[in-house]
Formats: sequence, C-alpha cells, structure tokens
Amino acid sequence: MDKSTIKNLMNEYKRPFYIYDEEVIDEQIQKLKDNFPEFEFLYSIKTNPNENIVKFIAKNGIGSDAASKNEVLKSVKANIPKEKIIYSSAGKTKSDIEDTYDKCIITADSYHELEIINQVAKEHGEIFRVGLRINPNYSMDSDSAVSSKFGVDEESLLEHIDFINSLKNIKICGIHVHLRSQVLDYEVLYNYYKDIFDLAVFCIDEMGFDMDYINFGGGLGIAYSDRNEELKIDFLGQKCRELVKQFKKKLNCRLIIESGRFIICRAGTYVTYVIDKKSSRSINYLIVANGYNGFHKPSLAELVVSYSQLPRENLKATEPIFTAYDANQVDILTEANEKELVTVCGNLCTAADLLGKNLELPKAEIGDIVTVSNAGSYGFTLSPILFSSHEIPYEIYLDSEKNVIINKY
Ligand SMILES: Cc1ncc(COP(=O)(O)O)c(C=O)c1O
Repeated sequence: MDKSTIKNLMNEYKRPFYIYDEEVIDEQIQKLKDNFPEFEFLYSIKTNPNENIVKFIAKNGIGSDAASKNEVLKSVKANIPKEKIIYSSAGKTKSDIEDTYDKCIITADSYHELEIINQVAKEHGEIFRVGLRINPNYSMDSDSAVSSKFGVDEESLLEHIDFINSLKNIKICGIHVHLRSQVLDYEVLYNYYKDIFDLAVFCIDEMGFDMDYINFGGGLGIAYSDRNEELKIDFLGQKCRELVKQFKKKLNCRLIIESGRFIICRAGTYVTYVIDKKSSRSINYLIVANGYNGFHKPSLAELVVSYSQLPRENLKATEPIFTAYDANQVDILTEANEKELVTVCGNLCTAADLLGKNLELPKAEIGDIVTVSNAGSYGFTLSPILFSSHEIPYEIYLDSEKNVIINKY
C-alpha cells in the first residue's frame, strides 16, 4: 500500500481507517482463475462484507458463499446471479429459508433443515433443488473423522435414504464440504479435493443424488509472515487439472471452490495513529487510537500467547479469531532510522487492548501513523467497534483508478 496515499487520507480524515486495495484483490482473483480453469469461485462474504468489495467480486464473475439471509440479500443487491449465490450455514430458520427460497441455491445443514426446505417447497407447490453439507469421514490431516456441528456425517447418509426419498418436494442436487481454513500445503488440499470427488461419486451411485455441483469449500491459505511459505497455487492447480480429467466421465458438473482470505486478506491494511507516548518501569508504550476495538486480531493473539504454555511458534490457529502470534505486522510511517522497543496499545480501559508487545519499530512521535498488515479479512467485521463509544474507523476502498470510496460510520 502506497505510503503517501495513507498519509494523505489520514491528514484529511484524522481518524483510524481500514484501506482496501482493489489492485491486490484483482491480482488474487486472477491467480485463482489462471490456476483453476475448470473451477468456479465463490467469495465468502463473511470474510469482509464491504459492499465495494462485493461489487468488484461480482463484476469479476465470482459468486457468493453466503452464510446468512442478509448475506444472500447483499449478494442479490450486488447483482450476483441466483445460481452463483450458495447459502450455507448451520441453524437456518424457516423464515431464513422462506426469505431466500427464490434468490439462491440453499445448502441444507441437517436432516431437520431438509424437512423444513421440503415444507417450504411444498407450500410453493414445487420440487426444489437443494444442496447438502456433508461432514466427511476424514479430516484434512488424517483419515479419521471428526465430530462437527456442520453438515450431516457421511456415515449417516445410507441409513437416511428412505427419509430423504420421503421428502417429495426436494431433490438433492449438490454437496458441500468445508473442513478448515488457512491451509498452506498444496498436497493436503489436493488429497482433500480427491476425497470429495470420491464422496460425490458415492452420493450419485449409492444415494441417488443428482450432482449439479460439488462445492469443495474454502481452505486456500496465505503466508501471513516470513515464517510461512506461500501456498503453491500453481502446483495445486496443475494437480487439480489431472483430477478433473480423471473424474470427468463420472462427474460432469460445476466444480466450486470458496475463498475468503486468499482474495481479500492482503488487500487490507488497518491504519491508526499515535496519540500518546509514555514509559512505565522500563517499558515504552505507544498509545494509539482504536486498538482492539478497531482491529481485534492483534489483541487476541497476545491473549492466546499469554495464556499458553507452548512456544508461540507452535500455537494452533483457531480461525478466524486467532491465526498466529505474528499474523499482523505493525509498522510506523516515519522517516526515522532509529529503532525503539515498544508495546503498542489502544486507548481502551483494558490492558488487553494491544497491537503488539515488545516490538522493535522505528522510533515514533505523537501523531505518527501506525499501520497493521493483513487486515482485509475478518478485520472490521469481527472487531468490537462499539466498545467504549469511540469513533468508528472508516472503511476506504481504493479502486484500480485510485478513486477513493469511503464508508463513514
Ligand atoms: C463454509 C466456509 N467456506 C469458506 C470459508 C472461507 O474460508 P477461507 O477464507 O479461509 O478460505 C469459511 C470460513 O470460515 C467457511 O466456513
């Protein structure tokens, strides 16, 4: 992100903001399209529901992975066609289904949901084509199955054939699997996709499902810090092409991958400024505007590190709340060469309000701008922006022509 743009925007608006760079979003979308020509993509709106981002996604032919009724409605408003909006979440109510029935493809998350969807379809006097989320009998890292609140267990399918066939107003026409986010090993993703192809074949042969589409869920990760290697997306794409060839005869259907952070994470930067500087018993503090309440992730990472007995490098992610201790790098926009060890805090009434502890940063002065990287995904949307009634950060969208579009709150 261009430093002078950030400085000019801060001088003009004098408050913290998120800035999203369309050029980066565009590059990420292009990588997906180039490497997976046989696949379609859905943008996971929950990652960052900013309407300018959703509009750009729609303009690029990407569909929507909608996790609520309102995300379906947002997708419709962005002109995403009905067949490219897939509504999948645990715990949909009958009114969620009624309000989205004619606006998207609905993925049932339980046998009970299949019954409700059947009921709504009956009231419409129609046979409704519906997807089903399946919790497969393997996990990303091993062959063993895990218990999950999402979907129906793969091994429960056969015993539910009669039940499914008794629902006369629905026809299952697609499957959805999602196990994990932020996978950086392409072989893990490849094996996972392969297992889902096998599951799809089982669903056709043994369950009698139609297969309009297979939704392979999310999982494409990004390297948040220098400790990680980037996902080898070109290797994964190549192996997927072979996989598609292998299954083509049996499965002539839409192949769908969901992606949130891969598309948007790096495009976003959180920007704030130093309000005060102080030193207490040999620790230097920078107090910035809107820390935890502006961008929640750094504070939560510090919390996880402080409670764990493990070395911080070994901490397991709990996405999307905790990724890694160094997932979001803090920087000071200054020409100063001198470095300083500082703890960067926000201005809330809690010591847990932190952008980072003991960071070696360029020496900052009051008024200097502070940036935090990798803030495009699960940033504004997951942060407690109302806490302490501080002013709410703006969201600024920088389009490819460098036009600035601002959401003020
Ligand atoms: C069903 C589903 N799909 C896709 C995603 C997006 O994951 P990611 O942004 O890591 O690709 C999530 C994230 O929670 C999800 O729950």
